[in-house]
Amino acid sequence: MLLHIPQVLTTQEVAEFRRRLDAADWTDGRETVGHQGAKVKRNEQLSDTSPLKAELGNAVLAALRRSPLFFAAALPRKILPPRFNRYAGGGEYGFHIDGGVMSFNDGDQLRSDVSCTLFLNDPTEYEGGRLIISDTYGEHAVVHAAGDVIIYPSRSLHRVEPDTRGVRLASFFWIQSLIRDDRQRQMLFELDSSIQKLTMEGADEAALLQLTCIYHNLLRLWSEI
Ligand code: NI
Repeated sequence: MLLHIPQVLTTQEVAEFRRRLDAADWTDGRETVGHQGAKVKRNEQLSDTSPLKAELGNAVLAALRRSPLFFAAALPRKILPPRFNRYAGGGEYGFHIDGGVMSFNDGDQLRSDVSCTLFLNDPTEYEGGRLIISDTYGEHAVVHAAGDVIIYPSRSLHRVEPDTRGVRLASFFWIQSLIRDDRQRQMLFELDSSIQKLTMEGADEAALLQLTCIYHNLLRLWSEI
């Protein structure tokens, strides 16, 4: 499931992120990838040891905590500290698969179930630079407004097109979900969304209670903690 979550960061927050990132020290993006990724990756990142990366990453996590849609869709168990990248002057990242298990914070590990990109530029500010996600239904080209987030299953092959004009800034990170299988996670999300909608519409309370009971019992059945 590809899900667009609008306005995770406010306009003011995006402006502050941009001000800080424009003055940042950027390093070669190949610092954080394995052999296959290094062959096709041409971009820049904030170093994993950068205090600015830690500070802005915490601000991203705080913004996500304000988003019920993000929590309902991703059902996060662990979130990798967010990273930041920059594409400019033809920079790109060819088709690759992200690592299945990632290490962070000197000893923690996370299974990547859900991939997230938080856009920090509006699409009018650059050309190319679209995120292309390949799944069983073909390729999807993704670009969204500054402050918006896209989430998609980490098992998907994906790439970032060459950036041919302007600068594309983004934050990216992975989630280990309570629900490993994205088909199960999607069904829970759809059930949850339907329950929310029926609640808003004042549907029959006994039926709503039964649906809520099914949601939590499926969560109990499928979750890994
Ligand atoms: Ni990737």
